[in-house]
Amino acid sequence: MIAIGSDHGGFELKEHIKKYLINEGVEIKDYGTFTEDSVDYPDCAAPVCKAVLSGEAESGILVCGTGIGISIAANKFKGIRAALCGDVYSAKMAKEHNNANIICLGGRVTGRELAFMIVDAWRNAKHLGGRHADRVAKIHAIENA
Ligand code: RB5
Repeated sequence: MIAIGSDHGGFELKEHIKKYLINEGVEIKDYGTFTEDSVDYPDCAAPVCKAVLSGEAESGILVCGTGIGISIAANKFKGIRAALCGDVYSAKMAKEHNNANIICLGGRVTGRELAFMIVDAWRNAKHLGGRHADRVAKIHAIENA
């Protein structure tokens, strides 16, 4: 299952991504927000991060206006590797090199069709392990220091 969430700035794109993935046969759980009313992006990042960290979700998608605030918030959760991606190459690398367990997008920045390609590039890529896994381990060593 992929957990998905957004604030109001990412709501519209989150809804499009959700429908796209459901249509692709991907199991999705929506952690909100569920309206365009103003909310605080750290509050929206938290349930998706917790779902990933608990193992309830295998990975997560977060959307805010730019993708910046929600990615900063998500990366404060120990064990979360959230990658803000606005292009397909970065999305693929986010999994292959960084093993990003959450991808973040900007709902006011990235168009819907590009967003679908970005999400697909990330979710279909495989972490390459080896030296890349060693580097990811160093990230978590910093977290644990
Ligand atoms: C909300 O207006 C906006 O600040 C938020 O969606 C996001 O872009 C923050 O980084």
